[in-house]
Amino acid sequence: MKLPILLLLGFVSCAASGKNWAMLFTGAKGWFNYSTHSNLCHAYQVLHKAGIPDERIVVVMYNDIADNPMNPFPGKLFNNYNHTDVYKGTPMDYTGKEVTAELVLAALKGDKEKVKSLVGREGKVIDSGPEDNVFVAVSDHGGPGSLLMPDRLMSAKELNGALQYMHDNKKYANLVFYLESCESGSIFLDLPKNIGIYAITASNKDNPAYMNYCYDPDIKDVCIGGEFSTAWTQNSDKVNIRTFTLKQQSLAIEKAVNDSRPQLFGDLSLLKHPLKDFFGGKSASKQMFTDLTSTKQGFKDRSVPFHTMHLSLLKRKVEQRPADIDLRLRLARLQAMMADVDRFYRLAAKHVYPTGDVAKIDAITTSNSESIRNWDCYEAALQAVSSSCPGLVQDQKVQGYFLSKLSVLVNMCNRETGPVVTEAVEAASRLTGLCN
Ligand SMILES: *[C@@H]1O[C@H](CO)[C@@H](O)[C@H](O)[C@H]1NC(C)=O
Ligand SMILES: *[C@@H]1O[C@H](CO)[C@@H](O)[C@H](O)[C@H]1NC(C)=O
Ligand SMILES: *[C@@H]1O[C@H](CO)[C@@H](O)[C@H](O)[C@H]1NC(C)=O
Repeated sequence: MKLPILLLLGFVSCAASGKNWAMLFTGAKGWFNYSTHSNLCHAYQVLHKAGIPDERIVVVMYNDIADNPMNPFPGKLFNNYNHTDVYKGTPMDYTGKEVTAELVLAALKGDKEKVKSLVGREGKVIDSGPEDNVFVAVSDHGGPGSLLMPDRLMSAKELNGALQYMHDNKKYANLVFYLESCESGSIFLDLPKNIGIYAITASNKDNPAYMNYCYDPDIKDVCIGGEFSTAWTQNSDKVNIRTFTLKQQSLAIEKAVNDSRPQLFGDLSLLKHPLKDFFGGKSASKQMFTDLTSTKQGFKDRSVPFHTMHLSLLKRKVEQRPADIDLRLRLARLQAMMADVDRFYRLAAKHVYPTGDVAKIDAITTSNSESIRNWDCYEAALQAVSSSCPGLVQDQKVQGYFLSKLSVLVNMCNRETGPVVTEAVEAASRLTGLCN
């Protein structure tokens, strides 16, 4: 009679031995991407307080914001107007030039060898096993089916490929993915429902993610939070993570955001799990990080779409100081650059339809609601644009706008073959000043 009980005990202790792992990453860099860093540092604070040890939290971010010369609070990052530092203590596992698409994918897959070959040293990876739960949070720039890394665009297919690899190689019991980026709903359209992954995104497949806390009196010209990120981190700060479920948090997020449109993907049966199953189970109490809990922003404090953040903030300044010629010039220059982005895409479309089929060119350059049907073509197009037009892909001011318009390449790929579209991208790049 004793044997089955022992077996049972063995099973129970084994099931309970599951560990929590987490990965936080962004490909964004530069002062104007402040919110991506502060969002993820706040996420780290949530996981840290909840009890995941640093050796099981992998953080990948450029890390050029806290000590940026433009930061009026050197060495500190804030995620709302209350100015509670979220930077302190956040481990910086991969920073600066180490932050690449390949590195993120390798660290996620737990591929230590690959990581070593990429950064030239041993590095922390998600070294999880079949009993472990993995949590991933991202705050980044993105476009249809793509996330921006400092070196290139990472396609949704690559990211989903890494997740599928983790599933096939038994790297997790369950995995939860919180993703904030523009058009983030386009990343998980093909996420299977039966591989133990639940994902929630800040927006649907053809809308931007919105940033908030954009009018800090001391930290000018940037947004210091993301609607979606601050919604879940502030909620986590407030609730009892031992009992509050993913489902309850998803509803809280939907309620807290104003303009973003969160979407759920994958295995929704995971929603019944309490947060602790993914955030770590130490903290019994609420109010872990009280100072960061804030009420919804006031009406005057409009959130702004991440991909046109510069335009929104500049327009608002012009409204406030209409007589300021310098501001008006800056606005005009920015709008001219955005027109260049439009021209780039029209040039590409014209290259494919040189006979001047205006209706066709219009349709291809304006519709943003098509799904990606030709992934091979689209991935090749993303690579072509990353290498033939790095200037536009990485431009501080119009890059977000450029990414949002990647739908033009999606549309072209849905009609043409990869070589035709890459050739068009290269031709348009040669004629676009911003590409060089
Ligand atoms: C944000 O980060 C991206 C990716 O690293 C970079 O290309 C871009 O220039 C940054 N944007 C701004 C406004 O600094
Ligand atoms: C700042 O913190 C206080 C108290 O902790 C809170 O009442 C207030 O709503 C917070 N304000 C913001 C904007 O976060
Ligand atoms: C919320 O959205 C409404 C409608 O788009 C807008 O009028 C309001 O200013 C927004 N509030 C914030 C805080 O963004």
